[in-house]
Amino acid sequence: MPHPSSHSGHDRGPTEPASNTPADLPHLAQQAAAFLADYLTSLERRPVLPEPHPGRLLERLPSLPPEVPEADPWAAIYEDLDRLIVPGLTHWQSPRFFGYFPCNHSVPAIVAELLSAGLNVNAMLWATSPAATELEQRTLDWFAHAFGLPESFTFAATNAGGCIQGTASEATLAALCAARHRARAAARARGRTTVHLTLYTSEQAHSSVTKAAMIAGLADGPEDRTHLRLIPTDPAGAILAEALGQSVRADLAGGLVPAFATLTVGTTGTEAVDSIAACVRALDDAARAFGHERFPGWVHVDAAFTGAALVCPEFRRFFSGIERADSVCINPHKWLLTNFDCDLFWTRDRAALTGALSITPEYLRTASDAADVVNYRDWQVPLGRRFRALKLWLVLRCFGLSGLREHIRGHVACAERFESLVRADPRFEITAPRTTSLVCFRLCGEDGRSERLLSELNAERHVLLSHTRLPSGPGGTPGRYTLRCAIGATLTRQRHIDETWAHITRAADRVLRHSA
Ligand SMILES: Cc1ncc(COP(=O)(O)O)c(C=O)c1O
Repeated sequence: MPHPSSHSGHDRGPTEPASNTPADLPHLAQQAAAFLADYLTSLERRPVLPEPHPGRLLERLPSLPPEVPEADPWAAIYEDLDRLIVPGLTHWQSPRFFGYFPCNHSVPAIVAELLSAGLNVNAMLWATSPAATELEQRTLDWFAHAFGLPESFTFAATNAGGCIQGTASEATLAALCAARHRARAAARARGRTTVHLTLYTSEQAHSSVTKAAMIAGLADGPEDRTHLRLIPTDPAGAILAEALGQSVRADLAGGLVPAFATLTVGTTGTEAVDSIAACVRALDDAARAFGHERFPGWVHVDAAFTGAALVCPEFRRFFSGIERADSVCINPHKWLLTNFDCDLFWTRDRAALTGALSITPEYLRTASDAADVVNYRDWQVPLGRRFRALKLWLVLRCFGLSGLREHIRGHVACAERFESLVRADPRFEITAPRTTSLVCFRLCGEDGRSERLLSELNAERHVLLSHTRLPSGPGGTPGRYTLRCAIGATLTRQRHIDETWAHITRAADRVLRHSA
């Protein structure tokens, strides 16, 4: 068969590269797909981590960009990918990747990314691609149903609905902007022109909450507590609802305006779950003591990782009380077979969100403004937006909710197995209760042992785990060092757990021999 581009050379402009006509696409996409299929298959035998050589790629890349197109670049590009790029990657899709939280992929989602790149629409307004907006609305409603969210978060409600944000950090920032908008509007309505807003989250919340405060001008840096309160947690890492209530009371007593509380369902450190119901009760009680009907601020629930598990009814208890939240976010790109990036964000108060983020210069006015359409540019920080709903649509159609449940339950079973292996070895201890698929553990004894164990494992590069510190103890004593085994990579199966445990115990033998 002749190369497809040979049919269409006449379509090419004089300065265009040798592979930029639609007819070039099938062959080149097939080549890329074959490369990726080989890559994903190879992950079973590759080390997870690259060799640590800072500057190695920089040394090998020319310092100036190509001035003219390469005549036939593709063979050289794939050679360079193999030789220069892939060896410098951390293989997040490896079945032995257990660090941080996972970053899922699936073949349908990869194909959806390709389709989205090819269609390459900018769905900033409904009018700039109605189907992209409406597919997003419908898939967000589907996922609300999948997670058991109340209808009050969906487009069936008059002032609610969901959208895709790039990341959970962006979702939290959007929620904070909406909260600030609503709190200031309420204060203005009471005749107050200047208000001191206060924000609450736990000491174990993700750093993106503090960062959102920094971006929103409500913290001058990570340590600034002028507006932000970090509430202590129990030893497992869940916020102390009573301490949250006390903090709100103290601020109300001082004439401040509690505006935003972020609760975490699945903390990054230990996957601890804040009790939404208990926290809302504590917030309401505090507010009632000062004459409010209930907590007037915005409650945001960050369920970036653990929220994925709610496709399984047995985990829905983590959202008990969610009907009182103003917004919630969950990342399918972490654990629901959907390629990065894709955070799902729902709010029950669209008007506050769009009130905070909407601005309409003349060049963005369209005839559809008068109609009741959703313009997603008003729900996020950037104007432009990719067609990411395609990923959700293809994932749901190809796996169904039953496939997603199987995916989650398979990894939870892997985590149960890993936990039982840890418990059966008296040299180790489990350091936090397991919520779904994150197992926190360490070598018994001084912290240095576990630190050395992690550096041994990383030096071997065969498995990747990460670490954190447990919540601080009474009187602020620093929390103990702990290892984290976060199970959820798309390709991870039970055999990888056994293999990983064998690696860990061999490395532990070496560490303990040295420290004996
Ligand atoms: C609980 C929680 N929230 C937020 C984030 C930040 O996620 P993103 O990278 O989507 O901003 C993480 C990341 O692991 C997380 O665990």
